[in-house]
Amino acid sequence: MKFFIDTANLDQIKEAQALGVLDGVTTNPSLMAKEGINGKENILNHYRNICEIVDGDVSAEVIGITVDDMIREGEELAALHPQIVVKIPMIKDGVKAIKHFTNKGIKTNCTLVFSCGQALLAAKAGATYVSPFIGRLDDISTDGLVLIEEIRTIYNNYSIKTEILAASVRHTMHVINCAKIGADVMTGPLSAIEGLLKHPLTDNGLKKFLEDAQSMNV
Ligand code: G3P
Repeated sequence: MKFFIDTANLDQIKEAQALGVLDGVTTNPSLMAKEGINGKENILNHYRNICEIVDGDVSAEVIGITVDDMIREGEELAALHPQIVVKIPMIKDGVKAIKHFTNKGIKTNCTLVFSCGQALLAAKAGATYVSPFIGRLDDISTDGLVLIEEIRTIYNNYSIKTEILAASVRHTMHVINCAKIGADVMTGPLSAIEGLLKHPLTDNGLKKFLEDAQSMNV
């Protein structure tokens, strides 16, 4: 399973990249706004900076909600850097825009997916990635992981190439369960990635090894 980090914070992206396990980055307008980025040129520059830090795909989301606006914005974003993936919301015009980019060989990430039907449509339009939001489903007492499982089954039935990008991942158990189910990618905060490191037996074991090593005067 590929690990993407879901942030527009350059320090966190650098930290995840330095760990050596990062496969890409996802952003959205809320995450960009959180970094206090203002104005079109600064936004475009920020995407360029992210692409310079990581080796993999970087999702940059369009703001427009008409097919013409999404195509215009998406083409501008895609022209920024070869690693840019155009992120498009799951609405009717979004499906049309995804199809447009598929025909042009430009990668897309279909976002705000909350049902199997939406995931099927995204795949039919040729989306590179489909992003079901598991945390937000959990927030409304609906098991987000069940959606990942169902989309996995549907995509497997037809050998669909669209990658399942589990989004709105909030913690380590989401990451582990996504891997068990067979999500192609998960995107989450740095805390969910670093949380995988933690085990008290590792800490206790290392403490004991270091104590014993000291007794050998090495
Ligand atoms: O990738 C989508 C993600 O940013 C949404 O996460 O935690 O706001 O539901 P969250």
